[in-house]
Amino acid sequence: MPGSIKSGKKDNLKLKDRLIISIDVSAKQEILGLCSSINNTVSTLKIGLEVIYSCGLDIIKSIKSFGYDIMLDAKLHDIPNTVSRAISAITGMGISKVTVHASGGRDMICAAAEAVDAKAEELNIIPPMIFAVTVLTSLDDDDLKEAGFKNGFRDSVLKLAKLAQLGGAGAIVCSPNEAGFIKKELGSGIIIATPGIRMQDNNINDQKRVNTPYQAIKNGADYIIVGRPVTQSSKPYEVIKTIINDIEMALS
Ligand code: C5P
Repeated sequence: MPGSIKSGKKDNLKLKDRLIISIDVSAKQEILGLCSSINNTVSTLKIGLEVIYSCGLDIIKSIKSFGYDIMLDAKLHDIPNTVSRAISAITGMGISKVTVHASGGRDMICAAAEAVDAKAEELNIIPPMIFAVTVLTSLDDDDLKEAGFKNGFRDSVLKLAKLAQLGGAGAIVCSPNEAGFIKKELGSGIIIATPGIRMQDNNINDQKRVNTPYQAIKNGADYIIVGRPVTQSSKPYEVIKTIINDIEMALS
C-alpha cells in the first residue's frame, strides 16, 4: 500500500495534535518569536510558500529545535516525475506532513506516495503524511465557474478527495463545511485537515468557505489549521487555549 497511509494514524490524537498553527510571516525573528510564544501548546506548525521563499528551508531546523513537528505546505502540483523527486527530497528534511494538490491527478499523487515511502524506508524514518489539497478554501462556486470549471466546489472536493484516496494519499484538505459530507461519502477512515477556520468575531480575510473550530471538529475534521487569527493576535497563546477548549468541547 503506497504511502503516507502508514503514517496516517489518527487514533490517539491528542488535543494539541489536532490544532495546526499556520505560520505565514516573512521575518525569521517573527517566526522564532511565534515558536516561543506558542510555547508548545500545539504539536505541529505549518509553514508554506511565504516562509519558504522568505527564509529558505533552513528554517525547518530552527522550528524543529523548539520541539515542533512541521507540516510543509508545499502544495506540489507538477508532472509525476517532478513531484516524485521533489517530495523525496522533502521527506529527507524530517517533516511530519506535506501537501500536494489533488488536481495534479492520480498518477502524480501515486508517484508522490511511492516516493515518500521509498525515501522513508531508505532513511529508516516514519514517512510524512501526504495531505492532498482539494479545492482551496478561498474559492467559491463563482470563482470555480470563472476559472472554467463545470462543477461547484462540493462536487469538486468529492471528486478530488476520491482521487487522493485512489492515489494513496493518507489525508486530504478541504473546508470545514465539507468535512462531514466527505466522511459520509468516503468513510470515516479518511483523514481530513481543514483550513478556513475563523471564530465568530474574526475577519475572514481572503477565505470564503469558513467555519468555527467547534463546528469543524463537529463536522468531522481530524485536524484544523489556523493562521492569522493566531499569528496576528497580540495574544497568540490565549487564542490557542480558547481554540483547544473549543476542540475539546466539540469532541465531548
Ligand atoms: O490565515 P489563515 O487561517 O487563513 O491561513 C490558512 C492557511 O492554510 C494558509 O497558509 C493557506 O495557504 C492554507 N490553506 C488554505 N486552504 C487550502 C489549503 C491550505 O487556506 N485549501
